[in-house]
Amino acid sequence: MAVIAVTRERRAGETRVAATPETVKKLIAAGWSVTIEAGAGMASAYPDADYEAAGAKVEKTLKATLKDADLVFKVRGPEAEEIAALKPGALVAATLNPYQDKDTLNGLATAGASAFAMEFVPRITRAQVMDVLSSQANLAGYRAVIEGAEAFGKALPMMMTAAGTVAAAKVFIMGVGVAGLQAIATARRLGAVVTATDVRPATKEQVESLGAKFLAVEDEEFKNAQTAGGYAKEMSAEYQAKQAELLTGHIAKQDIVITTALIPGRPAPKLVSAAQVASMKPGSVLVDLAVEQGGNVEGAKLGETVITANGAKILGAANLPGRIATDASALYARNLMAFATLLLDKEGALNPDYEDEILKAALVTQGGKVVHPNLAG
Ligand code: NAI
Repeated sequence: MAVIAVTRERRAGETRVAATPETVKKLIAAGWSVTIEAGAGMASAYPDADYEAAGAKVEKTLKATLKDADLVFKVRGPEAEEIAALKPGALVAATLNPYQDKDTLNGLATAGASAFAMEFVPRITRAQVMDVLSSQANLAGYRAVIEGAEAFGKALPMMMTAAGTVAAAKVFIMGVGVAGLQAIATARRLGAVVTATDVRPATKEQVESLGAKFLAVEDEEFKNAQTAGGYAKEMSAEYQAKQAELLTGHIAKQDIVITTALIPGRPAPKLVSAAQVASMKPGSVLVDLAVEQGGNVEGAKLGETVITANGAKILGAANLPGRIATDASALYARNLMAFATLLLDKEGALNPDYEDEILKAALVTQGGKVVHPNLAG
């Protein structure tokens, strides 16, 4: 029987886990045997005893956990000590951040592992259930509003009280992918007046269907800003200048600005300048979800809250899904469980078909080398 191992996440601040008692039970029913490193689920509120009850073997040490593992599930890339403990030829599935974290990528290659970067799973219908970017971005978008509301010294909904009226907060969402859409929905549920912007025309209708107002420079470049893969292109300097001009007055009036804009494989676009931040009212809040990819807001700092001279707060929180770790782990673990079905053949033996378009797109190292075309060199 092929063995899946799940180790405790070792990266700073990582609270998620790559399997839950629920997925362990289902993986075992699908023909796998599962080993969990002791304490792996604690930060996500999944105790060892629950994994054991689901049928997993719980091992005390990293070495024992990985000794027989044919496939290792991780949330983030494995650390050097984990790579060193892999069985030769082991498979690894994790969010490897392969464009930025070259050390882990090269470490996995050198160790002879066949590693899959879950963020490279293509967004085709068959792979929706394995889409870790969506499952985590959705929760990050929700959490960004909660963090923003927490840091904001006023209420989000309008309230009419005997002591007077509390005005509804104005929330502006920049970048309306999966995270942005959930941020809009969450801010609306809390009663804020919500506006949103994006460079992909398809987002206009999505924003409006959630009851928010759409705002963007809708020129020829905007009409062609979506790639065949559904992602945004990097916009020209001219477009960015027009975008800044349109949005400057708007940003000055906002209470909370949440930015989520990303371009795959590129640094995050700068969407809010220091001057625009300086135009905001004291007490206003910016939440920069793109801070790990360089940030959308000028002055945002990874893992820090910056208070500007005009009294605005820029939240550069890292790993927002990790702040809702129980749900984030549950969804991530289901994504990996679905992915694992691709690795077994009809007889239930570990025998991946590397010609399968999903495996082909996600495979980044094999046979001692980095094999993904986007990562060559
Ligand atoms: P993302 O995380 O790559 O980017 C977030 C948002 O930022 C995107 O909407 C993007 O257009 C926007 N953005 C980029 N540059 C910008 C700029 N300069 N100004 C303003 N906004 C900017 O996007 P995410 O959430 O991964 O979604 C990407 C696409 O994938 C969408 O079309 C989404 O609907 C699609 N998708 C498809 C799925 C499927 O079919 N299985 C599943 C999930 C998403």
